[in-house]
Amino acid sequence: MLVLETPATMRAWATVQRAAGRRIGLVPTMGALHEGHLALIGAAAHHADVVVVSIFVNQLQFNRPDDFTLYPRPIDDDLARCREAGVAVVYAPTQPAMYPRGFETFVVPGALADPLEGAGRPGHFRGVTTVVTKLFNAVTPDVAVFGRKDYQQLAVITRMVADLDMSIEIIGAPTVRERDGLALSSRNRRLDTAQRGAAVVVVAALDAMEAAIAGGQHNVAEIHRIALAVVADEPLAKLEYAEVVDPSTLAQLRVVEREVLAVIAVWFGDVRLIDNRSIIAPAQPVLAPPISPIQ
Ligand code: PAJ
Repeated sequence: MLVLETPATMRAWATVQRAAGRRIGLVPTMGALHEGHLALIGAAAHHADVVVVSIFVNQLQFNRPDDFTLYPRPIDDDLARCREAGVAVVYAPTQPAMYPRGFETFVVPGALADPLEGAGRPGHFRGVTTVVTKLFNAVTPDVAVFGRKDYQQLAVITRMVADLDMSIEIIGAPTVRERDGLALSSRNRRLDTAQRGAAVVVVAALDAMEAAIAGGQHNVAEIHRIALAVVADEPLAKLEYAEVVDPSTLAQLRVVEREVLAVIAVWFGDVRLIDNRSIIAPAQPVLAPPISPIQ
């Protein structure tokens, strides 16, 4: 397994692979790799001949300096996991290689990036689209895999690739979870034992939203209240948002439609966890049309 640190060396390797007729799969990450990342690597291997994993903690997408500083960076473990998983190249550019002095050009996403994560983390998606574009330009992948855990990120990147005519296939991979349902996240390791116990409330809130919808509740305000009550019951948790949105536009809904996305962000101390669930609402009972009075 090679470890490459500059866009130039990365691109040179990719050029050789392409000349040999190999399809390149990319899994962009910020490291602290867990089973969720490994599942993405597996999906990439399924769709490509050689897999590149990028590891770069992208300061541009962090809106809180402490979150960036405290982000875990176990690079030796990460390299060992990639080696075991059969990764061909770890692309781990240095900060100056990615953002040299004078860097001033950005990729600015549209309305899909405004709500939810975009509202709570100003500039976050601009940082994501900019770094992912740079990773795409260095690795020149045929296919790139992203997790549905970060649903809005996947949506914003899929849109960017279409809008900017990038010829890269984007694949969304399912969320990998702990036994109690908590979505794996690099940030989970910053939870203390009590907070880790409390974190199941994220899943409990999604369960409650899904149960309400399955039970025929169509009023989103009511579903929101149900999620709020579940999280309020856990003293270590603080709800940032729990919404029901349109899965393609991410616009907030007032009434549940056939297919919706429930999304949630919860704080445990200074750790913020997000999750989402795709929910199909039961078909509404067909009401008989009103009988018009005989004239
Ligand atoms: P990071 O948080 O390291 O996540 C890397 C990829 O792993 C993302 O596509 C994310 O959705 C996916 N992932 C995280 N947890 C997962 C889980 N439990 N199951 C399945 N997939 C999971 O997302 C980023 O990094 C950055 O924003 C990045 C795209 C690398 C740009 O800097």
